[in-house]
Amino acid sequence: MYRSHHCGQLRTSNINEEVTLSGWVQKSRDKGFVIWVDLRDRYGITQLIFDADRTSEAMMTMAKSLGREFVIQVTGTVIERSSKNPNLETGEIEILVSKLTVLNEAVVPPFTIEDQTDGGEELRMKYRYLDIRRNPVKNNLIFRHKVTQEVRSYLSSQEFIEVETPYLIKSTPEGARDFVVPSRMNEGQFYALPQSPQTFKQLLMVGGMDKYFQIVKCFRDEDLRADRQPEFTQIDCEMTFVEQEDILNVFEGLTRHLIKSIHGKEITSFPRMTYDEAMETYGNDKPDIRFGMQFGELNAVTQHKDFGVFNNAELVVGIAVPGGNRFTRKEIDGIINWLKRPQIGALGMVYSRCNDDGTFKSSVDKFYDQDDLRKWSEITGAQSGDLVCVLSGPTDKVRAQLSALRMELAERLGLRNPMEFAPLWVTDFPLLEWDEESERYHAMHHPFTAPKPDQIKLLDTDPGAVKANAYDLVLNGNEIGGGSIRIHDKATQALMFDHLGFTPEEAKEQFGFLMNAFEYGAPPHGGLAFGLDRLVAILGGQETIRDFIAFPKNNSGRDVMIDAPSAIDETQLKELHLKVELK
Ligand code: AMO
Repeated sequence: MYRSHHCGQLRTSNINEEVTLSGWVQKSRDKGFVIWVDLRDRYGITQLIFDADRTSEAMMTMAKSLGREFVIQVTGTVIERSSKNPNLETGEIEILVSKLTVLNEAVVPPFTIEDQTDGGEELRMKYRYLDIRRNPVKNNLIFRHKVTQEVRSYLSSQEFIEVETPYLIKSTPEGARDFVVPSRMNEGQFYALPQSPQTFKQLLMVGGMDKYFQIVKCFRDEDLRADRQPEFTQIDCEMTFVEQEDILNVFEGLTRHLIKSIHGKEITSFPRMTYDEAMETYGNDKPDIRFGMQFGELNAVTQHKDFGVFNNAELVVGIAVPGGNRFTRKEIDGIINWLKRPQIGALGMVYSRCNDDGTFKSSVDKFYDQDDLRKWSEITGAQSGDLVCVLSGPTDKVRAQLSALRMELAERLGLRNPMEFAPLWVTDFPLLEWDEESERYHAMHHPFTAPKPDQIKLLDTDPGAVKANAYDLVLNGNEIGGGSIRIHDKATQALMFDHLGFTPEEAKEQFGFLMNAFEYGAPPHGGLAFGLDRLVAILGGQETIRDFIAFPKNNSGRDVMIDAPSAIDETQLKELHLKVELK
């Protein structure tokens, strides 16, 4: 038996018991005649004591030779500590060791295995197994497990069945590139790893499974960001005989359940907003609604004077920054420079200070009088003490820039409390979006999303205006889920492929299996998928998903620990009928 207890378990009630523990040496303090060792495992730390009065000389020598991260087993008696550590759960006791076995030695780790480590990101990733010994990473993985378990138990209680779908499939277009796998047995042919199990879950509905879910790996060859990994996990769900309202209700229930079971918090408000409203009010389809600073469109009250910049702009729009009038000129210049960085790309910013005495002082006083500026304040909802920030230009660009500014200022003003949870449904997404590069429409969600029935006729005349029964779930300004009501008849699906620029032959070649299935009694259905990594990170109060994934990829999509991707040898290439020509 390696252990009778774990390292977070023993208390004063165990005093005088003989116990056996196994774990890693966190650190040791050698005072000559007394040696203390902190023994660590997943559950905690227990202090061991070796002292010259009560410990044999041989064991004292052995204890002195213990290095950081040695794996040891000890047997001893639980005794009361003379100086207690209130910060440690086991801080009232220590183990007077009578037997010490070194199970494995360890070389000096490349960074300190403590909550605050001196290891940089790349080093921590290379030795991720050591990083996982640290509390912040370990606790995140435990947290992820807890969330996943709650998801499984909630969905099971709602009669969802977890079904596994294949990883070696044919490509499904969801906007990103596929990772492909060459087939040895089928020369010149490739599988694709799923970007999501979309078509399979729809086929499960045709198969009568009624309510499906799966906690499933998805693979997308796209550029990485803090909230994106090439392989990530979805909580993928689908339901039969449902309308959008049914789906929103079920997953509102799941979201409420998670926030309640994980944080003990009741969600009092779960608002819904259309895509158009989100874009107008927040310049963004995933608004953070924990704070205000809603957009106020100012065209009507700015385009009557001689200020050419505003007169020529498609959109003039502002936000009221709470308490922003206290910003110094230098601070405002800093904000303007921040906006002018290439990542944001604004040409400048106009502002109006809302003074405590009800007067205004703007950067464009030459063009606008107090009455004009009062209207700016009214429209943006500014109070005295606030700062109205105004941007102008082409609608899409200006909305994106002002939205970025809104988030940045909220961050600086401490308005994004990570332990406050503000979910939001964004509904009525456009069915199609224009792609400049390929000069054609793409499905905004995916090609299986149903247009709103009363808008199908618009497809021929104004495709960009057609709205879909598609929705996103937003939490604290992050898209944590998305889904739609699906097309379930062959004719509409064919019409959709036609609008997406597929010839009937191409549609048949790529999606014949789905269209055929639709001929055998496909029921109305719909669903959604949560991004589990994002959901867990946000519930954990963070926005970077990497530290909630045991073995993540770095920004170039590499696993630096196992050194993947890597070349394969000639024999493997030959078996796969592949020839690699390097540039
Ligand atoms: P969608 O493409 O919106 O929908 O993906 C669903 C959710 O998955 C998460 N997500 C990601 N998380 C981490 N890294 C990535 N690279 C990444 N890409 C997406 C997001 C997103 O909201 N089949 C549809 C769902 C459906 O229609 O039912 C789909 O995959 O949180």
